[in-house]
Amino acid sequence: MDVTASRMTDQIFPIVAVGDSAEAHERMHVRPLDRKTIGSPFVDNPRMMCRDVDVFYGDKQAINKVSIDVGQNQVLAMIGPSGCGKSTFLRCLNRMNDTVSSCRVQGEISLDGIDIYHSSVDVVPLRARVGMVFQKPNPFPKSIYDNVAYGPRIHGLTRDKNELDEIVHTSLIKAGLWEEVKDRLREPGTGLSGGQQQRLCIARAIAVGPEVILMDEPCSALDPIATAKVEELIAELRTQFSIVIVTHAMQQASRVSQRTAYFHLGDLIEVGPTEKIFTNPGHKLTEDYITGRFG
Ligand SMILES: Nc1ncnc2c1ncn2[C@@H]1O[C@H](COP(=O)(O)OP(=O)(O)OP(=O)(O)O)[C@@H](O)[C@H]1O
Ligand SMILES: [Mg+2]
Repeated sequence: MDVTASRMTDQIFPIVAVGDSAEAHERMHVRPLDRKTIGSPFVDNPRMMCRDVDVFYGDKQAINKVSIDVGQNQVLAMIGPSGCGKSTFLRCLNRMNDTVSSCRVQGEISLDGIDIYHSSVDVVPLRARVGMVFQKPNPFPKSIYDNVAYGPRIHGLTRDKNELDEIVHTSLIKAGLWEEVKDRLREPGTGLSGGQQQRLCIARAIAVGPEVILMDEPCSALDPIATAKVEELIAELRTQFSIVIVTHAMQQASRVSQRTAYFHLGDLIEVGPTEKIFTNPGHKLTEDYITGRFG
């Protein structure tokens, strides 16, 4: 997202600042890590910063002291065996875990230097700024047009029908779906194919001008052709947004991401440039996983 667009988002979805944001960046950067993760979890100019994040479901700890940055215009892939905490950690980034009553999150997570867990932060605008695409496409039982228009309508982002039409149009173009649906905008979103539905959900997330898009196994219900389309789309979206994707498909992580993070039993074991993780991992657990010996 360019600076102007980012400023517009700040005006539309203000998040109350806790202190000076440059100061918050500084404070979080100098904080020593409690545990060793192989590779640097930090990036220059992070969009989101997570420091010493613990997550509990009741008494059971699912995430242990995870620190990692989400870079600007980067795809961060999160990989690891089933149950290692990928979805749990992803859902911390837009406070989706708030909806699970037994779930407790500790540590610091900031978006553009502002603590997203501060009591003054409203989760509705936060979830517009940090959008989410789920494993199973979940269009609303509404028309294609209304699915995309839903967010801009509830957030009051447009002044009139022309502006709304424009947002729906550009979001569908960015999601690579416009050509396939332009003549059937009033038909139900649920009538599209699985791959089209997933791109519709991406269009719906884009329509409110997010800064970060979280994707939890977005292609696992799709066939190889639809998967290829979504992967192409992710590569394009990266020029505008920061993306965090959970995937079980190693090939997918290596195709779409610039950084990869390997989780194991709630720990962030290793993080680094995707090429390095897949060709020269620094930890035996990472190596065992990527070579198919574990998980
Ligand atoms: N709502 C919940 N209540 C209690 N425990 C949960 C809940 N959701 C997840 N867990 C537990 O937290 C741990 C991490 O689960 P999570 O779903 O984050 O793993 P994951 O890496 O996404 O796995 P998968 O690859 O199978 O999707 C697991 O032990 C799981 O049983
Ligand atoms: Mg999961």
